[in-house]
Amino acid sequence: MNNLFRSISKNRLKVIIVGTACIALGIAACNNSAPTTETKNITAKDTLVFHPPDTATIPHDDMGNMIRYGRDLVVNTAYYLGPNGTVGKYLGNKMNCANCHLDAGTRPFGYNFFSTHARYPQYRGRENKILTVSDRINNCIERPHNGTPMPLDSKELIAMASYIKWVGTNAPVGGHVRGDEGMELEYINRPADPNKGAVIFAENCASCHGKNGEGIMKPDSSTYIYPPLWGPLSYQKGSSPHRVLKVARFIKANMPNLKATWQKPVLTDEQCIDVAAFVNDDRIHPRPEKRNREVPDYPQLKVKPIDYGTGPYLDTFTAIQHKFGPYKPIIDYHKAHNLPVVF
Ligand code: HEC
Ligand code: HEC
Repeated sequence: MNNLFRSISKNRLKVIIVGTACIALGIAACNNSAPTTETKNITAKDTLVFHPPDTATIPHDDMGNMIRYGRDLVVNTAYYLGPNGTVGKYLGNKMNCANCHLDAGTRPFGYNFFSTHARYPQYRGRENKILTVSDRINNCIERPHNGTPMPLDSKELIAMASYIKWVGTNAPVGGHVRGDEGMELEYINRPADPNKGAVIFAENCASCHGKNGEGIMKPDSSTYIYPPLWGPLSYQKGSSPHRVLKVARFIKANMPNLKATWQKPVLTDEQCIDVAAFVNDDRIHPRPEKRNREVPDYPQLKVKPIDYGTGPYLDTFTAIQHKFGPYKPIIDYHKAHNLPVVF
């Protein structure tokens, strides 16, 4: 999302991709006045989404075995790496990567791995460092999985990185492909409303994720049938899904599960934003804290995403407005002051 600035009118979307030099240098080097290299019009129903290869084509050799193991780890993460993991105890909760990276990271607009391999190593603002794909996997193991990073030479990390590379077969190096990001979403001109979100949650989400967002475990308690959305066993503060817009875009294309699709969302944009605000409202819903809190996130303030709910900021808006919006005044302020607009 970092390098995209979008203006939306009804179903027609104008996507402007900021210069590739900017991608190579990381967002720290980018701002709104960067040159644009590509402009194209797309509709929500377009068929240009990226298609990963079929799993049947994974070769039957050493590399293929590693890719298959990586996929298995992404789907059955808690079994292998969870608190009672059979090969190592790295995760602090019993969620699986595929609870968020839907269809093992192959679903359009479902936090997929389409272009991941093609875009790493990459500058990451939260850590203010260049990370490899393996470092980025460890990021998710630390947050949202509330765990401890795996050794970089562990077979499991190599397997997951190999699988991620395979998912992105034919993705152009350095670039994005259609469907690899969050769904387009029209912002609302008021703050997101957790009270409205509570009603939407009760009607559309609680049947699976539980009245208290706790999810439903399998009878053997090994992992979830329906993963939790808040509480001590859910994703941490400061992880990507803890951001209202990040998770609202995901909800729009994918939730309620098996009903919503990116071609045919169930909730309106407004409902997605309100329910995301309800789920991620720290005033009513506890979730695990970041572990090593002495290391600040986004030490370079100019690359802090606009919906990141913890200050300080380079602009004049409160943490509450950053978290819940309205976002447009923040975006306008950033543009007027030549600050990057990062999502
Ligand atoms: C609670 C949800 C959640 C879980 C569980 C989770 N992730 Fe993530 N992960 C995310 C989100 C959200 C992003 C950011 C996606 C984006 O920016 O569009 C992300 C990003 C990533 C990225 C970078 C993707 C890119 O293209 O930049 C990788 C790699 C990754 N996760 C791997 C994993 C692996 C492997 C696991 C399991 C060990 C895992 N994640 C578990 C939510 C999750
Ligand atoms: C029919 C059951 C069902 C309903 C209804 C449903 N979900 Fe989900 N949700 C799931 C399942 C199952 C997953 C994990 C997907 C997987 O593992 O393939 C999931 C995953 C998620 C995730 C990412 C994983 C996590 O736990 O953080 C979020 C966020 C989420 N759902 C939010 C919602 C919201 C908000 C609603 C209501 C608008 C909703 N869901 C409605 C079943 C459901």
